[in-house]
Amino acid sequence: MSHYLGIDVGTSGTKTLLIDESGTVIAEADATYPMEQPKPGWTQQNPEDWWKATVKTVRAVMRSSGCKPDDVKAIGLSGQMHGSVFLDRDDNVIRPALLWNDQRTAAECDEITSAAGGRKRLIKLVANPALTGFQAPKVLWLRNNEKRHFDALAKVLLPKDDIRRRMIGDYVTEVSDASGTLFLDVVHRKWSAPLLSKLGLDADLLPRVVESHEVTGTLTKAAAKALGLTTACKVVGGAGDCAAGAVGNGVVKKGVLSTSIGTSGVMFVHSDQPQYDAAGRLHTFCHAVDGAWHMMGVNLTSGGSLQWWVESVLQGLAGIGGKDVYQAATAEAQACPAGSNGLLFLPYLNGERTPHADPHARGAFVGLNLTHTRGSMTRSVMEGITFALRDSLEIITALDVPVREIRASGGGSKNPFWRQMQADVFGKKITTLKVEQGPAYGVALLAAVGDGAYKNIQSACKATIEIAEQTPADRKSVKAYNDLFPVYRKLYNDLKDSMQTLAGLQQ
Ligand code: XUL
Repeated sequence: MSHYLGIDVGTSGTKTLLIDESGTVIAEADATYPMEQPKPGWTQQNPEDWWKATVKTVRAVMRSSGCKPDDVKAIGLSGQMHGSVFLDRDDNVIRPALLWNDQRTAAECDEITSAAGGRKRLIKLVANPALTGFQAPKVLWLRNNEKRHFDALAKVLLPKDDIRRRMIGDYVTEVSDASGTLFLDVVHRKWSAPLLSKLGLDADLLPRVVESHEVTGTLTKAAAKALGLTTACKVVGGAGDCAAGAVGNGVVKKGVLSTSIGTSGVMFVHSDQPQYDAAGRLHTFCHAVDGAWHMMGVNLTSGGSLQWWVESVLQGLAGIGGKDVYQAATAEAQACPAGSNGLLFLPYLNGERTPHADPHARGAFVGLNLTHTRGSMTRSVMEGITFALRDSLEIITALDVPVREIRASGGGSKNPFWRQMQADVFGKKITTLKVEQGPAYGVALLAAVGDGAYKNIQSACKATIEIAEQTPADRKSVKAYNDLFPVYRKLYNDLKDSMQTLAGLQQ
């Protein structure tokens, strides 16, 4: 029987899944790696760590499944979006890759906007404004700050596409991830020659672009040997982790919206044509579905805020610790009322993208009084993360995008308490799926489509994805959150100047 691998090169680690033709998950493996933060707001990783984790997890799923190498017909690649792997002429990595949540490029975003002839002109060319995490400002940052490295630069790749290069020996990306570079003419699904020329950059710096299900090549001898697979194994385009996660959630048609809480928080909606938020707060990107697009809002420190709160602050405090620290913390949170008794948390620990696009935004607890407990603080962190997602939902619904259903995935869907909180904060029923394996599952399905096992990605999703549970909103909590949301919303503007000053003092 044909088998397919889905590999997701994430921020905290790489996850690999092996599925069979019917979409059943046969084996999975994870491997983690560190993230460097040389300064507040700077994030980097070593691409070699991604490759080592890929080899380790592919070998682990092959070993634990007992699958024969010949039976693995195709691989789908997914990964953290927007990052920059800088390569020289001999394919050496020039410096650590800058990541999607890196905030060092504010000046370069201004430079791009003005080179394009203003924000409106830029949005016309590439469908999006310049945002600090995107890849194009990273390339300009290299030119402005590390001239020696820029002079050696021959190619810039996205994280998963560097894994592809090591697999097939070619430079290729696909439309969904390429949309997050800011170099792609998203409407026409090809690189924007006018923008590249305005920025004085050579189109040769970029890889070839294909659609997500297309076969980009087969494994080289060296890669097949390293991975324990064969040189007949194909590698399909795959998708950036947001589009891949949406495919894995079956969000491949109108009316279904998905939320995902991982390190980042994502509110994602399918669209049959390119649609825009005039203020540029949502991203308009190509979907991993041929001839379709998507809009999404992204919060930079979503599950990352809860991780910071639980692992850097709570863990080790008396009475809470050990393996079940998240369970203990959320149980304390659950014992507090919806709205955390008037306590709000702003999850802007590393700046924010949607809706503020502000690298200098910072986190805050606001409204503390003497009756608040550790539980109220944990609850308000979870509520703040969920309010940040509601910010995106409000922009999406204001654009008259029909929302019939919200599917939750990631950490926020696994915990029933957080699922209920999402239903109550959004005021909508939350659906979860039988198999929720995130982006790796989405690209394993794309691999199956690329190999011809399904006609297209819609039919692959229809055949494999099933709803497990629905969580309706609770009327009383919906009211409590509706009363609090406008206060949450106003706080960013109230605190913006002070956040900016404080960010300037932080080293
Ligand atoms: C999407 C984004 C993040 C990363 C995290 O625009 O920046 O979701 O892809 O993996």
